[in-house]
Amino acid sequence: MKIAIVLGTRPEIIKMAPIIDEITKRDMDVVLIHTGQHYDKEMSDNFFKDLEIPLPDYNISVGSASHGKQTGLVMEGIEDILINEKPDIVLVQGDTNAVLAGSLVAAKLHIAVGHVEAGLRSFDDTMPEEINRKVSDVCSAMYFIPTEDAAINLLAENISHKKMIITGNSVVDACFRHLEIAKKREIEEESLREIDFDNLDNVITLTMHRAENVDDETRLKGIINALKELTETNIIFPIHPRTQKTLQNFGLYDELDSLDHIHMVKPLGYLDFLVLQSNSDLILTDSGGLQEEAITLDVPALTLRYNTERPETVTAGGNILVGADTDVIVGFVRKILEDDDFAESMKSAKNPYGDGTSAIRTLDAIEKFYEEGLLTIEAPDDIMTSFKRKMAVVNEDITVAEFEDRYCALIHLVYNNEEMLFPHDDLNLKNLMIAYDKYN
Ligand code: UD1
Ligand code: UDP
Repeated sequence: MKIAIVLGTRPEIIKMAPIIDEITKRDMDVVLIHTGQHYDKEMSDNFFKDLEIPLPDYNISVGSASHGKQTGLVMEGIEDILINEKPDIVLVQGDTNAVLAGSLVAAKLHIAVGHVEAGLRSFDDTMPEEINRKVSDVCSAMYFIPTEDAAINLLAENISHKKMIITGNSVVDACFRHLEIAKKREIEEESLREIDFDNLDNVITLTMHRAENVDDETRLKGIINALKELTETNIIFPIHPRTQKTLQNFGLYDELDSLDHIHMVKPLGYLDFLVLQSNSDLILTDSGGLQEEAITLDVPALTLRYNTERPETVTAGGNILVGADTDVIVGFVRKILEDDDFAESMKSAKNPYGDGTSAIRTLDAIEKFYEEGLLTIEAPDDIMTSFKRKMAVVNEDITVAEFEDRYCALIHLVYNNEEMLFPHDDLNLKNLMIAYDKYN
């Protein structure tokens, strides 16, 4: 079996690394396609080195451009590669423009798409990432989903549960595997090495790069004003290139850089960054990956956004949405730093993203689908005589798998009163309300 992997940015390299490792262990063929969306050494090459994964077989070297131009150029590049390589499945991860381009091209070539970290929804269509994840989920043949809640998002969009595998998030695999290695070796980045964590109080890891924050002067100033006010803290701020540029354009960079309690450093390698996060009293971020890593590393997170496609972290109690409102940010930072019980309750939030076996689960499922011929995308050749969408309350003692088999049906939604349940094959449907498609 041949698996092609499309990646373009820092978080995709990190979250795909455990999957690439697992493919290599199983002696399967892998083709790595880098779109070149992230190209600085600190945003790309360093991660291949830190995570010990092979360098890409192809680099489309698209660089930075508008969404349309970047996606278009990458689609052209990926199409040529896929026609030539003929993989059995193309894996994409997350919600970047690489995911959009990879999913669309592969689906149109009738190559199975496997979406890693599928099903996340912020319900905010102004986010470029929300469009990317929704389009990818329309194109996919397999969904590797971090949590049951995310799977329910896909069920509500009428996607078949038979294509869904709840895997946890591969960020946990990467975190568990690399944290111990990271702690044992010397910190690589000189500016970080100079920071004496043992004698520093109130350490905050800060990252931000979301377009809706850093390209919006009002929101950016709201956040910056909070940082300026928090003089009793030590804020370590590895700065994303997008943020560096916009801070400079808005004339905010020099003032921030001159403040004693704010330590601006280059984007860090993965191992250094894990050490920084695990030495922090709290994480202040608008990053998707950091919300997941914070709850994995038992560090309280404050998210500089008004919504999140990772609501599980909030429900679990490890993450609070603070938006870009100065007073709210300052208030919650101080609450965490001054109220030990509050901080402790956030630290002990249960990690919803699994136990670090996401890559194994992903590859097990791909092998199973391959063996059962489910990666072959072709038009159905049965003549459809009827197709009906129905609802019912089930009064038999029958499981999901038995119901689907006996009644030639596909169950979409299952309700237990107001609660929506995932239709696991062995779920007993007695007295539950279901919505299903019936084929004849
Ligand atoms: C992209 C993803 C975002 C993801 C983030 C991870 C999309 C739509 N956005 O956002 O979902 O969370 O990556 O970090 O795919 N730049 C450099 N050097 C680089 C890369 C970028 O200087 O190596 C600068 C360029 O000025 C560029 C800007 O950063 O215009 C933004 O880069 P881009 O890849 O478009 O978006 P990100 O904000 O990185
Ligand atoms: N990260 C890193 N160095 C940094 C900042 C982040 O290694 O200086 C890692 C972090 O551990 C996480 C990922 O990058 O795994 C998150 O990437 P980013 O915030 O750029 O993107 P998002 O997750 O929001 O898509």
